[in-house]
Order: sequence, then C-alpha cells, then structure tokens
Amino acid sequence: MSDPAPLPARAEDAQLFELLRQLAHAPEASQRATAEALGVSLGRLNAQLRAAAEAGLVTVSRRQGPDRRQRFAYALTDHGHAAKERLVRAFLSRKFAEYAALHAELTGSVTDLMPLKYRSSLMQSNLAPIPELYVSYDSAQKLKVEAAELTSLDLTPRQICDLELLMNGGFNPLKGFLSEEDYNGVVDNMRLSDGTLWPMPITLDVSEKFAESIAVGQDIALRDQEGVILATMTVTDKWEPNKAHEAEKVFGADDLAHPAVNYLHNQAGKIYLGGPVTGIQQPVHYDFRARRDTPNELRAHFRKLGWRKVVAFQTRNPLHRAHQELTFRAAKEAQANLLIHPVVGMTKPGDVDHFTRVRCYEAVLDKYPSATTSMSLLNLAMRMAGPREAVWHGIIRKNHGCTHMIVDRDHAGPGKNSAGEDFYGPYDAQDLFREHQAEIGIEMVDFKHMVYVQERAQYEPADEIADKDDVTILNISGTELRRRLAEGLEIPEWFSFPEVVAELRKTKPPRSKQGFTVFFTGLSGSGKSTIANALMVKLMEMGGRPVTLLDGDIVRKNLSSELGFSKEHRDLNIRRIGYVASEITKNGGIAICAPIAPYTATRRAVREDIEQFGAFLEIHVATSLEECERRDRKGLYKLAREGKIKEFTGISDPYEEPKNPELRVETENVDVDNCAHQVILKLESMGLIAG
Ligand code: PPS
Repeated sequence: MSDPAPLPARAEDAQLFELLRQLAHAPEASQRATAEALGVSLGRLNAQLRAAAEAGLVTVSRRQGPDRRQRFAYALTDHGHAAKERLVRAFLSRKFAEYAALHAELTGSVTDLMPLKYRSSLMQSNLAPIPELYVSYDSAQKLKVEAAELTSLDLTPRQICDLELLMNGGFNPLKGFLSEEDYNGVVDNMRLSDGTLWPMPITLDVSEKFAESIAVGQDIALRDQEGVILATMTVTDKWEPNKAHEAEKVFGADDLAHPAVNYLHNQAGKIYLGGPVTGIQQPVHYDFRARRDTPNELRAHFRKLGWRKVVAFQTRNPLHRAHQELTFRAAKEAQANLLIHPVVGMTKPGDVDHFTRVRCYEAVLDKYPSATTSMSLLNLAMRMAGPREAVWHGIIRKNHGCTHMIVDRDHAGPGKNSAGEDFYGPYDAQDLFREHQAEIGIEMVDFKHMVYVQERAQYEPADEIADKDDVTILNISGTELRRRLAEGLEIPEWFSFPEVVAELRKTKPPRSKQGFTVFFTGLSGSGKSTIANALMVKLMEMGGRPVTLLDGDIVRKNLSSELGFSKEHRDLNIRRIGYVASEITKNGGIAICAPIAPYTATRRAVREDIEQFGAFLEIHVATSLEECERRDRKGLYKLAREGKIKEFTGISDPYEEPKNPELRVETENVDVDNCAHQVILKLESMGLIAG
C-alpha cells in the first residue's frame, strides 16, 4: 500500500488495460475472437488497435498462411508491456485505498477517509457498505481472551439490543455509547456535539456500585445475559444524568405513564457510562435467524437484486389487509420496492409477542409479489418516543439501505399520559420527520388511514373517499380486535387473512381457554386454604385446564423451607409463589395461591408478573383478626400473644389490606362452599370459565 497515490479510474485507462491484457493473453486470436472477448464491435476494436499502435504499445504484423480470416498477428511492444504493468499497479493501488478506507471506517482506526469520489460507482448511495464496529475474526479471538480479564458488565435486554445496532452499523454514525457532551446535545437539541442529527440518547446506564468500581479511561467487557463477551468499551465518560430533564426533553413529559420514562426512572441505573465500543461478536439469536439481517447484509441483498429504491415499513403489530393495501400503495407512490421491517427487540408493553408476529408476517408475505418485497427483522429496542422516534427510525432505515420510509399517524405513540391525554399530537411525528428528512437522507411516505368500503369490496384511504355518505365504511380498531380475540368472536375475512387470525387465536385463545391465577390473601386462619381447596375441587370437576394449588403451608414446606417471617423473607416467599404461578398461567393452567401475602407492593409486583400471561384475581379473605383469633385452629395466636412466636401477622407484624381486590369474601356466617361459589361466579363474569 506504499505504491502510487490512488487515482480516479479513467474509462480510457480501463479499456486500454483490457485490450493489452487480452493481446498479451491471446496474441494469435482472430480479430473477431478478440472483439468478442472484449465485448466490443469489430469497428471499435480496430479503432483501439490503431490508437495503441500509434502510441507504440502494439505491433501489427501480417500473417503468413492460408487462413484468410486471420490475417494479422499482434504483439505488445516493451512500451506496451510497461504500460500494462503501470495500469495494473494503478488499479491495485486504487482498490487497496478503497479497502483501506473501508477498513478505517469499520474500525475507526484512521480518520482521513478516502473521498467518496475515489470509490467506484457501485459503492455509492444506499447500497455501499457502511461502517461496523466489529474487529476482524482473528482480532476478535485475541480480544476475547484479553477481555476475559477486564471488569465485566452484564447487559440488560435493552442494552443488548442497543449494542447490536451500534456494532452492526444500524446506529451509524455512533461509534459507541454516548459521551456526556454528545448526550447533552442529543437531549437538548437532537444533535451530537459535532452537529450531526441524532434524536435518541443511546446510553449505558449502570448502578452506582458498578460505576464506583470503574475509572474513566478503563476498558470494560460487555457481556450478554449468559456471560458471553460481545464487545469491549473504553470508558471515556461517567456522569449522573438529570433523568427528569431527559424525560421532559426526549419523551415530552416526566410522566411514568410513558413506558420509556418508567424505564428511565425505575429500571435504568443511576449513572451513565460513555465511550467507544469495539465489537467482538453479534448477540446470539436462536429464533428466526434467516430472517435477521445486519445493515450491510440488507444493502448487499438490495445490491444483488438491483433494488435502488426501497421503502421501509416499520411495524410492531401483526399485519392485516389494511396494512397490506397501504404498503402496496406506498411502494407504488414511491415507485420503490418494499421492505417489511418489523421490530422484534423491545416494543410497547402488552404488544403481541414477536414469535407470534413473525409467524403472522410469514403468512402474509405470500400475499406480496416476491420480486419486489422482502422482509427482515430488526432487533431494535423501541422507546415509543413518537416524533423523535420517527426521526430515529428514519436514520436506522437509511443505515439499512432504504431510501423511503412509511411514517405512521401517531408513529411510535406510547398511548395516554397519566391525565388520560395523548402524549403527542397525531401528526407530530410526520411533521418532525418532514422537517429533517433531507438531513436524515430518506424520504417520508405518508401513512394513509385505510378503511374498507363494503360496496366496492376494497380498502381505500379514508380521506380520499368522495362518496362517503353513500357507501358503507367498515373498520375494526385494535381494541375491538383484542376484544374479539379475547371472547373468541368472529373476525371477518375483509379485515384480516385467515392464516393471521389462526396464529393470533393460537397465542391468544379466548379467555375461557387461557391460564389464570387466583390469589387469596388474608390473615392466618382466615380460611384461605379451605376456600382454595374447595375452589380447586370445583374447577377440577369442570375440567379443561390443569389446576395447581400453591397453599401457604405447602409452599413453605417445598419451595421456601429455609425462609422465616421477616419482611424480606415473606417478600421472597411471595415472589417465588408469583413466579411459579406466572409459569402455570403462561402455559394455560390455573394457579390457586393462598399465602398471607401481607404487603401491598409485593402483591402488586406478583400481579405484574402474571398479567403479562393471563388474568390475575386478587381475593381478599376478609375474616377479622378477632374471628381468626377466636378460631385459632392451629393455636398460633395464643402463642403469638404470649410472645412465644415473634413477627406474627396481625399481632406483632403488619397486614396491609387490599384496597381494590377483584373480590372480597366474608367468611363469618358464610359456609365454605358458598365462598368458593362466589369465586366461581366472579370467574364466569370475567369470561375465564364458560358460563
Ligand atoms: S407469608 O407472610 O405470606 O409469607 O406467610 P405464609 O407463607 O402464608 O405462611 C403463613 C403460615 O405460616 C404459619 N406461621 C405464621 N404466619 C404468620 N406469621 C408468623 N410469624 C408465622 N409463623 C408461622 C401460619 O400457620 C400460617 O398459615 P395459614 O395457613 O396462613 O394459617
């Protein structure tokens, strides 16, 4: 690479090189064969030969012999050989420079990159490779060994998503987690410190304890949740961010109803670390591997297919007929190919899980023309930041080789704030995108609200229907769709594809077939276990779902035998019960729990664990302390009063009564069968058992 400075390739040089190479390779060939090998006409070849002869590069001599079609022989002069060598060297040095520039971009090792004009035309625009942060395979092996000695950070699922897109160029031009200066610029003005547009803080949040163990200037190893080293990072910055300010500026309000604000305050660590990242390996995915592409893989795919214009459709929902129609229209409007680019990292809490969605997408993909449509999965952790998120999505799609993106009405909206109002206006995202689209380098295609016109049996953009009053317009909202799925009601063919509906029904069967948890809480001796047992027998009589009883005593014997009755131990005990119940619920069973569970916060945490998978019914067995003490079946109250049992609930330890349980049952003067029957009626009214 010490050879001549790279020169721009000249078309004449390339032609001359090919001619000299061909003549040196086959000097005896006929003119016709030479012209064919070079892909030029006979006339053009003659002109080239004349010019080469005049320049003293080639000699032309008449042949002796009978074959009249092969009358001339050609030979390279010394001058011709030298010219050929010079052209080879120039070509190679240009290629080396091109590779060196790419390498420098990929590793960040050299800053003076080769100007774009020195690159070949194929490597320009949305199809050229973009920089990644990975080192070569050999360096990665070495680095991995060295990194094993470094202080390690086990990344959270969200941080792993961020790291993957940092390393593979999805977050280009970022070279690592934001420094404090870049963070301040991004939060306040959506710009990195060098002025580059970047709307989302990509930060490495850690606990105070971890931060204390790290000095600025130190390298750390970044590991996945199983301890695999994915990257190293040189910590250049360490600071405590003003999270309330970040929430206000980035998400529009410091309101915990916003999922990302909740994450910021309740899950993210207190301290941020910043610094460049050196990629060792991609996070491992075991699911849908063939459907996941890095930006460079997608760019190569588009190059291979000759796709110069690509419109991306970002989605976190299953696709129904309206989506298909709107993506068709968007592709037509932009005269572009279509990339369905669903997010499979983290989306809005409560969304359909990505396994189900991808199976749905695969079913719908068959309905698109395969020559102009592709699908690829994006492991992005969304923040639901509306306008800023739209701009971010644009940059990410640009990095993935797209030229256009569909921007939704209320794109990446987080829903309602704690006052019950929308966080963002319906067109805020489109407005902000439009304002910045030249800089993002990707063009926006408006998302059209599609509705079904029954008389014409087709989807049309709602605002383009001229005869609105004379036709029947049909639409099913997301909420209505969820209700129909939950209640096992019909979902019409005009709305979705049967394959998609079948997939959704498998994951979200009607409530009467889903798992659920009945969680009894109340004082010792209140009757929880007795009612729970009666309920279990009644549910088993009905059949259909497996029933498991996690009674306080049973659990303490099997799961929590080492625990006592301190607050800490009680919480641990309840969280264990919650974990088992959530697994049972997830797998379609019925869990009946009957611990005292005296603390509101712990009961709420268990509810949250379970409600991701199915219904949670909190049932307060509201027997008074006096009555429990009067019954004193186990003789424990007497011992507690005498101080022989410490920390006894109701006597020497607190019991926080549930404020809003799904059901409160009184046991005084009511028999057990009746109490259990009240629960059955409640389950029926919630649609959890067939009436
Ligand atoms: S907790 O608070 O939910 O973890 O308690 P739990 O696992 O349900 O266990 C309650 C049963 O343990 C017996 N026991 C005590 N209860 C309360 N406080 C103290 N200090 C205590 N020590 C032993 C008691 O028999 C409880 O049984 P139930 O079935 O509730 O009457």
